[in-house]
Amino acid sequence: MADQAFVTLATNDNYARGAMVLGKSLRNHNTSKKLVALIGPQMSEPCKAVLKRIYDEVREVDVLDSGDTAHLAMMKRPDLGVTLTKLHCWTLTHYSKCVFMDADTLVLSNIDELFNREELSAAPDPGWPDCFNSGVFVFRPSLETYGKLLQHCTDHGSFDGGDQGVLNSFFNDWSTADISKHLPFIYNLSSIAIYTYLPAFKQYGGNAKVVHFLGKTKPWSYTYDTTSRQITGSAHDATTHPTFLLDWWSLYSRTVVPMLKEQHGDQPFYSGCVEDASRPVVDQAIPPGLSSEERKQKWEQGQADYLGMDSFDNIKKKLDSFLK
Ligand code: UDP
Ligand code: GLC
Ligand code: MN
Repeated sequence: MADQAFVTLATNDNYARGAMVLGKSLRNHNTSKKLVALIGPQMSEPCKAVLKRIYDEVREVDVLDSGDTAHLAMMKRPDLGVTLTKLHCWTLTHYSKCVFMDADTLVLSNIDELFNREELSAAPDPGWPDCFNSGVFVFRPSLETYGKLLQHCTDHGSFDGGDQGVLNSFFNDWSTADISKHLPFIYNLSSIAIYTYLPAFKQYGGNAKVVHFLGKTKPWSYTYDTTSRQITGSAHDATTHPTFLLDWWSLYSRTVVPMLKEQHGDQPFYSGCVEDASRPVVDQAIPPGLSSEERKQKWEQGQADYLGMDSFDNIKKKLDSFLK
C-alpha cells in the first residue's frame, strides 16, 4: 500500500551501512510497503546516494539529542542521546501507518503482516520485559503525537537518555492495556536471549523474522573476510549469534559494497571487507586461556565469548551431554 512505510534512521555513515542492509533485506523479502530513511546532515554523499537507490524516500532531519549524560552513562552508551531523532518519524504524515526499524536490524522473512497491528505495537525488551524495545514498533504518523512526545521529553526527560525511555513513559500502558500490541519476540530477536534463555532460543530461535543487533558492538564493528567468508577482527564483547552476523555480512558484501564502490569511483573508502585470510578469526579473539572463574565473570557482565568458547554449538554440546 502506498500510504504505508517501513522507516529507519541513520545519523552517520556507520548506521547508514546498517540501513542499507536493512533496506535490502526488506526488498529481498518482497515487501509491498514504501521504504523511508531518515538521515542526519553529516552523512556523506556516497552513502546518501546508495540509500536513495534502496529507499523510496530519504529525508534529512535535524538531529535531536537528549544530552542526558547521566542516564546514558548508566547504560554505558553515551552515543544514544541522538536516538531521540527517531521521534521525527511521527512527522511522516503522508503515510497513515508505519513500522519503525532500527538500522541495526535485519529482516529474515516478509513481515508486512505487522501493518495489521495498531500504534503502539512493539516486542518486549529483553532487559526489562514490562518495557517494549523501541528497535521495532508500529506507529501512526501524527503532528499532534509528535508535539506531545517533544513536550513529554521537555517535561520528563528520558529515563534511559534515549528514545526508548521516552516512548515507554509516553505509551505507559503498553504492558497492561492490550495484548495485541505485544509483538511476538521473533519480530525483534536480540542475541541477548541466547544467554539469558538458551533452551528457548534453541526451541524458537529458528522462527525469527527480525534479528536486532542490540548493544554496543554492531555488525559493522567487525571486519569480514570475503574469501573465507568469515568474520574477523576483535570481538571482546561479541554479543551476536554467528549465523545472524554472517547473514548480515553476506548481504552487505554481496549487494551493498558494490553500490558503495560505484558511488566512490576512484576514491578509497572503508568497507570493512578484507581479503586477507591471515587475520585472526573472531572465535580466537578472546584468549582461550581464561580461567573458568574469569569466563564466568565475563559472562555475567554480558561479555560471553559467543563466537568461541561460549558459542551456541559449544553450549549446545554441553547441554546435550548434561541432558543425556
Ligand atoms: N542511531 C543513529 N545514529 C547513532 C545512534 C543511533 O542513527 O549515532 C539510530 C539507528 O537507527 C539505531 C537506533 O538509533 O539503530 C538506536 O540505536 P542503537 O541501535 O545503537 O541502540 P541499541 O539497539 O543498541 O540499544
Ligand atoms: C534501546 C533500543 C534502541 C533505543 C535505545 C535508546 O536499547 O534497542 O532502539 O534507541 O534503547 O533508548
Ligand atoms: Mn538497535
